[in-house]
This record gives sequence, structure tokens and C-alpha cells, in this order.
Amino acid sequence: MSKIILEHIFPTALYTVQLGGMEKIHKDLIDYIYSLKGVSKQKHNKYKASSQGGWHSSFLDTDVPEVKTLCQELFPPLNPIVEGLGWDLENYKIKCDSIWSIINPKYAYNTSHVHKGSLLSVAYYLKVPKGGNAGSFVIKDPRSFATFFPPALLKKDKGGENITPQQPPETIGCTNGQSNAIEIEPKEGLMVIFPSWLEHKVTQNLSDSIDPDRIVISFNVSQEMKITPLKR
Ligand SMILES: [Fe+2]
Repeated sequence: MSKIILEHIFPTALYTVQLGGMEKIHKDLIDYIYSLKGVSKQKHNKYKASSQGGWHSSFLDTDVPEVKTLCQELFPPLNPIVEGLGWDLENYKIKCDSIWSIINPKYAYNTSHVHKGSLLSVAYYLKVPKGGNAGSFVIKDPRSFATFFPPALLKKDKGGENITPQQPPETIGCTNGQSNAIEIEPKEGLMVIFPSWLEHKVTQNLSDSIDPDRIVISFNVSQEMKITPLKR
């Protein structure tokens, strides 16, 4: 039999980083975000984009101590990532801007969207209610034609033993690289970094916790040309 060569073409980079020891930083920032929500007259603002039933902040001021402290933790992991992606760090610096927060109470969710005008985007989970089921981060297969007619796939159950047929289009979490979406369960301190053009959504918060709010911080990452002083 002739040799079969497999190549995975058009791969999409997705990074996750789990931060630890963030309890105090989270608490301070959560208090600050709730204080913003308390004085906000608008349920939504012009940036609300995908938010359905949640509260979307305006862009946060990174000079506010609670925000600045978190940024000092979130920005360093980006350096090795953009180095690995081959970004020109000699002539361009990394620009992290348009940072915002979303509080999703019970039943809130986010519709499918992309983040225009940036290169990478970050979602960071500040608060996830106990017991889970507070809304997963779902990324759609960016190869749009790949979802025209997905095959019926086998899906392992949570125990990993029994395999049950899984009919399209609900193929989240299937194997063989043929799923049309992947799902990430939020965890406090989890940072998800993805290409800004990658379409994503958040499923409905169905937490049964007595404190069901799910709080995320997001921001976009782009490049900014370094300014070289003119030589006279
Ligand atoms: Fe988003």
C-alpha cells in the first residue's frame, strides 16, 4: 500500500494560561467592577456588542489601581506567545487596549462575534459561580465551509468509555478534528488567548448558585510601531 501522508493545514492557535494566587486581586477588582455597575445608568453601552442580559462595562481605565494590578499579571504571558508567533518585536511593541468587563447574571449569554481591529484577544475569568454551568466559552470552527455538511461522529461520554453516536450539528467536543466547535469551561484565573478574528460566543448562564454572577475581563492585543527619535 502506498504511504499516506497527513498534513494538518490552516491550524489555529489557541492558548490557555491558568493563573494562581489571584484571590486578593480578583476580590479588589470585582468590588471595583460592581461599583462601576452601581453608578452606571446604562444597562448596556455602545460597546455591548454580543451581551444578552448581561452588564457590559465601558472601557476600563488601566491607571485605576485594581485594573492596573491585574494587567501586570495578564500582560507578561503574552510575550512568549507573540514571540512564538513571530511578531516583529524590534520595530513594534505589543499594545493591550480596550479592556472591559462583562457580568453575566443567571440566564445571560453572549451571541457569536469576533473582535474587529486587533490581532489577539483575551478572556480572563474573574468570577465563576460554584457548581459550574455558568456559561461556556464556545469557539466555532473558522473554516466556514467545513460545517456545511459535518459527518455523524462518535462521542465519548464523560467517563471516557461508552461511545454514543452524535448527530450534527451538535458536535462540540468530538474527536478527529472534525468538530464544528470547541467548548471551554470557565475557571477562575483562567486566561484564554485567541486570534481576534475567531468567532466565539458564551452559552447561557444556568448556574444554580446563590451567587450566580459570572464575571470576565477581556481585552484586545495589537501592534504599535515604536517611535524612534529623529537623529539630528
Ligand atoms: Fe468576545
